[in-house]
Amino acid sequence: MTARRVVIDTDPGIDDAIAIFLALGAAELDVVGLTTVYGNCAVDVATRNALVLLEVAERGEVPVAMGAAAPVATEYRGAIPHIHGVDGLGDSGLLTEPAGRPVDLTAAEFLCRHAPGATVLALGPLTNLALALRLRPDLDTLVRQVVVMGGNALVPGNATPAAEANMVNDPEAADVVFGARWPVTMVGLDVTQRVVMDGPRIDAVTGGDAPTTRLLRGAISFYRRFLERVSGVDGIYLHDPTAAAYLLDPGLFRTERWPVRVETQGFSRGKTWPNLGGTDDEAPAAWQGRPLLDVCVDVDAAGVVDLVSRRLG
Ligand code: BDR
Ligand code: CA
Repeated sequence: MTARRVVIDTDPGIDDAIAIFLALGAAELDVVGLTTVYGNCAVDVATRNALVLLEVAERGEVPVAMGAAAPVATEYRGAIPHIHGVDGLGDSGLLTEPAGRPVDLTAAEFLCRHAPGATVLALGPLTNLALALRLRPDLDTLVRQVVVMGGNALVPGNATPAAEANMVNDPEAADVVFGARWPVTMVGLDVTQRVVMDGPRIDAVTGGDAPTTRLLRGAISFYRRFLERVSGVDGIYLHDPTAAAYLLDPGLFRTERWPVRVETQGFSRGKTWPNLGGTDDEAPAAWQGRPLLDVCVDVDAAGVVDLVSRRLG
């Protein structure tokens, strides 16, 4: 079996870090590069973190391309240090400066060069992908698949009552990416908020002494404390790792084929709207000519938690 080539577009980010380690350790995947984007933290912090994560995993040869610092049409909403820490990885004090540097290409340029024939695993705002399409308008005919952690089809948002965090950071870019010709799978809150790694499992998975495990232990305990404060639950959502798990075992998911628009206006900005049909207007203009996405609507949550735990352990 030849490994599937993957570019990971990411804003690490605690759950991004788990997803990156999962992908790096998977024999089925050949991670050909990380492209970075603002989101959980500013893009320079995300880029430093991407380099550190690769070096801790002894995969410093994987290139990192620094991407967008702000959305395509608006200002960056700002970092979320109360969830991911000021350093983006839980302020554990374990981060050292990386030895490596990002390559001399923007993320959009890197995607244009390396994403043809590959899968893009998008774990942050979709700005870099939209910018890559501007640079190379046929890129959407060349990429094998785009798997997006983001959006909420049938459930409320998490960043706002309406919208999921990656979508609300750049709805204009997301609407472009969801309207392009590449095959897109949306792994949104409909499934990722059901995939919770509980406290005992976190302790089991992060109990070892490998450098990657130590880094994850520090990062996850920060995110775990945040969620315990706001929801009273002892556990963490595996948002980005669930999207990585989709690549490893899509059989754990049930999808529906829907065209999806992303709201760019008002208080629902960032809300992902599938056209579910069954309305008086049988062909609403806003969805006309839009491609069908695979939208994840159900998941074997225990199966994903097991997969992530087994592979990280
Ligand atoms: C998404 O937003 C970010 O905070 C996480 O890393 C994940 O990609 C979840 O809504
Ligand atoms: Ca992320």
